Amino acid sequence: MANKQFDVIVIGGGPGGYIAAIRAAQLGFNVACIDEWKNAKGGPALGGTCTNVGCIPSKALLQSSEHFEHASKHFADHGIKVEGLGLDLDKMVGRKDAVVKQNNDGITYLFKKNKVTSFHGRGSFVKAGGAGYEIKVAGAAEETIEGKHIIVATGSNARALPGADFDEVNILSNDGALRIPGVPKKLGLIGSGVIGLEMGSVWRRLGSEVTVLEALPTFLGAVDEQIAKEAQKAFTKQGLKIELGVKVGEVKNGKKGVSIAWTNAKGEAQTLDVDKLIVSIGRVPNTIGLNAEAVGLKLDERGAIVVDDDCKTSLPNVWAIGDVVRGPMLAHKAEEEGVAVAERIAGQHGHVNFNTIPWVIYTSPEIAWVGQTEQQLKAAGRAYKAGTFPFLANGRARALGDTTGMVKFLADAATDEILGVHIVGPMASELISEAVVAMEFKASAEDIARICHAHPSLSEATKEAALAIDKRTLNF
Ligand code: FAD
Ligand code: NAI
Repeated sequence: MANKQFDVIVIGGGPGGYIAAIRAAQLGFNVACIDEWKNAKGGPALGGTCTNVGCIPSKALLQSSEHFEHASKHFADHGIKVEGLGLDLDKMVGRKDAVVKQNNDGITYLFKKNKVTSFHGRGSFVKAGGAGYEIKVAGAAEETIEGKHIIVATGSNARALPGADFDEVNILSNDGALRIPGVPKKLGLIGSGVIGLEMGSVWRRLGSEVTVLEALPTFLGAVDEQIAKEAQKAFTKQGLKIELGVKVGEVKNGKKGVSIAWTNAKGEAQTLDVDKLIVSIGRVPNTIGLNAEAVGLKLDERGAIVVDDDCKTSLPNVWAIGDVVRGPMLAHKAEEEGVAVAERIAGQHGHVNFNTIPWVIYTSPEIAWVGQTEQQLKAAGRAYKAGTFPFLANGRARALGDTTGMVKFLADAATDEILGVHIVGPMASELISEAVVAMEFKASAEDIARICHAHPSLSEATKEAALAIDKRTLNF
């Protein structure tokens, strides 16, 4: 029997791959998407890392644990008495799993709606030939399909610490960190990056004593320094113990837990004994099982697929997007690349503006930013103006009972063009969108300062920070 033929075959059904598949189908192509993720029953679970063990489940647990913390610590401030408060961790984790399934099912529905043919199994290159490439699908059954264009969106995997393999029982990656069966009394984290802070916050709120060991001497080095300092102060006040400038030594995984030998910033030898250890020291691009060698697809020294600015690989009509290529490992970056590639295949001019990709860390306070930090502008020798506005002076934040943090604007000294916006505080994840839109349209700080913002709203802090650029805040 002849192999099934497709215009576009997408390998990987995460946010990069599934969005690329849908956009390509919208553009009139005959599209297949191959994804190997298995749910607990061995069935398909579209959505990749993001949906299954990343963005979605972490945000579900962050939400639940925040409710728990509010009920135990903050409801009293609002005059709400809570008696007999308890934690049903199985239910909380079960709810998280249900949220994941809703998202898996949503993508399955979208594939049907857009007539994307879905294959459950591992996709690998067989050879170039005919009108494009032969791709083997190894699932419950095995078959070979052919595509004119191939989009590789195989994502990334957690990086393990040498000598401390993930067993997902005691030494946990992001996967195990999202399903610890009981709240650990003592929890260790290696790496105070995005996962470390988000997962550390979840388990601290639920009752763990959390210690984070970070190799770098500065906290959140990629974040604007002023914002990072404010966040560090808040996390420390909440009880997260963060050790910077550490060197992690031997990690012993025993029956009772994990023992970590480490050296502090002063060079003193220390030991941390914990019930569970989460290792969150970054992620590595995933090309396992892709058989890239069969077609000569070029990888770099980190194992990422080499692409140009347009996501073109070393091979004609083979594209790669998302975590498996250069750039930030973010779901929305993967999605934008997916849309752009589908449009380029259709002869359109897909475009991704890497300067306006927002970052969000969903802790409390949330941290969000877009554009350049003050330290980056200084290093580049760019003349800039800075303006900040604290949530302490914002009426809505006072009403919410959450006045931690600030909004910070950075604008060009001569033209007033917004160069970066940095937020630490309540709902920073939502507030940052205004800054992204403004920067995408090359707005000046004054543009934002002159726009009417609803009162009372947290967004007024954004307007006031823009006003602060010219030292004319109205409420501070
Ligand atoms: P993935 O989502 O990794 O998807 C790749 C898919 O391809 C997987 O389903 C995989 O099984 C499949 N696959 C791989 N190889 C093959 C093959 N050969 N054949 C068939 N299928 C294959 N980003 C955000 O923007 N916001 C967040 O809040 C956020 N939170 C996160 C929280 C955690 C704990 C983690 C770990 C990550 C988080 N991220 C977040 C990052 C985000 O998950 C990734 O950037 C995003 O998933 C990348 O999308 P992708 O499509 O490139 O790859
Ligand atoms: P990360 O890159 O954010 O942080 C890793 C941290 O580990 C860094 O601070 C690094 O200095 C430290 N580190 C590295 N090696 C170390 C060692 N040997 N000992 C001690 N510290 C060490 O990586 P993380 O947290 O694993 O997350 C991976 C990626 O997933 C993120 O970069 C991000 O792209 C994505 N993500 C995004 C989220 C979001 O958008 N809200 C949430 C979670 C993950």
